[in-house]
Amino acid sequence: MPENILVAIAWPYANAEIHVGNITGSHLPGDIVARYHRLKGNNVLMVSGTDSHGTPVTLKADALGRPVEEVYKEYHVGFLDLFQQLGIHYDLFTTTHTENHFKVAQSIFLALLQNGFLYTQTSLQWYSPATRRFLPDRYVEGTCYICGADGARSDQCDACGNVLEPEKLLNPRAKTGDGALELRETKHFYLDLSKLEPEVKEFLRARASYMRETVLGESLRKIEVEGLKPRPITRDLDWGIPVPVEGWEGKCLYVWFEAVIGYLSAAIEWAKLTGRPEAWKDWWVNPEARSFYFIGKDNIFFHTSLWPAELMGVGEQFGLIFENRPFRLNLPYDVPANQFMNLEGQKISGSRNWAVWGRDFLSRYDPDALRYYLTINMPELHDSDWDWAEFVSKNNGELVATWGNLANRVLSFAYKHWEGHVPPVEVSALRPPDRALLAGIEAGFQSVGSLVEAVKLRAALQEAFRLATTVNQYLDQQAPWSTIKTDKDSAALTIYTALRAIDSLKIIFAPFLPFSSEKLHSFFGYETPLFGETYTETVADALGEHTVLRYRVASMVSLPQWKPSELTPGTKLNPPMPLFKKLDEKIIEEERARLGK
Ligand code: MF3
Ligand code: ZN
Repeated sequence: MPENILVAIAWPYANAEIHVGNITGSHLPGDIVARYHRLKGNNVLMVSGTDSHGTPVTLKADALGRPVEEVYKEYHVGFLDLFQQLGIHYDLFTTTHTENHFKVAQSIFLALLQNGFLYTQTSLQWYSPATRRFLPDRYVEGTCYICGADGARSDQCDACGNVLEPEKLLNPRAKTGDGALELRETKHFYLDLSKLEPEVKEFLRARASYMRETVLGESLRKIEVEGLKPRPITRDLDWGIPVPVEGWEGKCLYVWFEAVIGYLSAAIEWAKLTGRPEAWKDWWVNPEARSFYFIGKDNIFFHTSLWPAELMGVGEQFGLIFENRPFRLNLPYDVPANQFMNLEGQKISGSRNWAVWGRDFLSRYDPDALRYYLTINMPELHDSDWDWAEFVSKNNGELVATWGNLANRVLSFAYKHWEGHVPPVEVSALRPPDRALLAGIEAGFQSVGSLVEAVKLRAALQEAFRLATTVNQYLDQQAPWSTIKTDKDSAALTIYTALRAIDSLKIIFAPFLPFSSEKLHSFFGYETPLFGETYTETVADALGEHTVLRYRVASMVSLPQWKPSELTPGTKLNPPMPLFKKLDEKIIEEERARLGK
């Protein structure tokens, strides 16, 4: 029975381009897992979108002096371009600024309200009489009342690291120059997380056997230390999703409250676009479905506590509001959050241009080179470091030397000596070492597969490389390059065996290195591709137009394909070409010189 797998990936804020840390943190691991399950023949839905609301985005637009609507769209379109170039195969990559998302988010809010998990409370907030608006905490800075440092944000002081109570800030002023500020009363909705604390703890403990300790431990510790406290979930803002209650005009839902709902609303939007409006329930209502949330460590609380709490709090009420019938929504199955990737020993910082930007990288290098380095260096359990010298040495010494050269050498040799065909051997004539090699590769489908299923992607790719090494060792022992001169039949058996191993490895590598696997697939003469393709589409709704990324499976793709090759002797090959490029050492200094400028 095929499984239903939801791959949910953190929604990037529309305030900066995507860099290698973001890619290795969430988009790439999500894509690897999605591609693996697609090859297995499982039903995969991979969704995300641009996080278009919230102060990170409005601050950026203010800084640029441009309308926020324009700014979020520009970043969004850049994200779509990056994912297409890098082969991040979203079924749907949308945005939070859609009519559908507004409706779903507002329904979740109303369900929580009706179930008694929301209450209102008045608090003091900095207000600018000149521009007649309340200012978000991030907009207000001044002198820290704890350490006396100037330039503290009203909710946090970077100098002493303390979280601040905004109304206690000294000498408050708006970053955006809104004139003198005063404290005024304002009313907000609060989500009473404390009521759901026991359920959230239970939810986490039930996942203890497979959730990463870095994620589970941090989540449970935070609850032990601070408890789950009520959180305000509305803001005095006009950019965002209106609070769906009369008398609350001019207030919006808090960006984190609604962005996490995107995983659900994107599935619903995808189903509509696909012409099967009920299909989202295969991942969201079918209790057998499993969901994996790929995020960076700074997002852990929102995915292991806030989002599950929202889902628990709505219970069957969301269904009643949304469709007039009760049903429950699935809780996350796993949240394999990653740690951070640094760059040349320092924290990545977009504002200092201490970053390797995805699209800029791809203007000079190939996507599989990036995917390779980001997977073997993925910050799964510890922070990792992008180092340009290591990038070059791993590319040349591992990707090119171990895997690329193996495939190219054997295919070229077969192409040359058997007139563009797989040697026409009798499979029954394979000798013990040939059979042993193929058995080892066959076992790789199990070993690599279970590592991917457990989201241990570094180990999975290492295991795939170990398998490639066994083929290199086999070839060293059999030495078909010299046997061919004396015993062409024996060389034919060796080359057939190696080709068949490579044809299998092509599948095993495909989730990680899809571009080169797709090329290899065509060198082997297969006429249908391994994967489908993404394309963009512009859709219109009451909020205007938005462009989305979608995924289309080529109709001829035959699934499942996660199984050993049965390469037919005598098959016609296509002319092979090198899979990867060797990189010149001089790029190390060139790339380092770009940093921080
Ligand atoms: N925009 C957030 C960030 O970049 C992530 C949001 S994930 C979601 O850190 F779940 F809220 F959508
Ligand atoms: Zn301070």
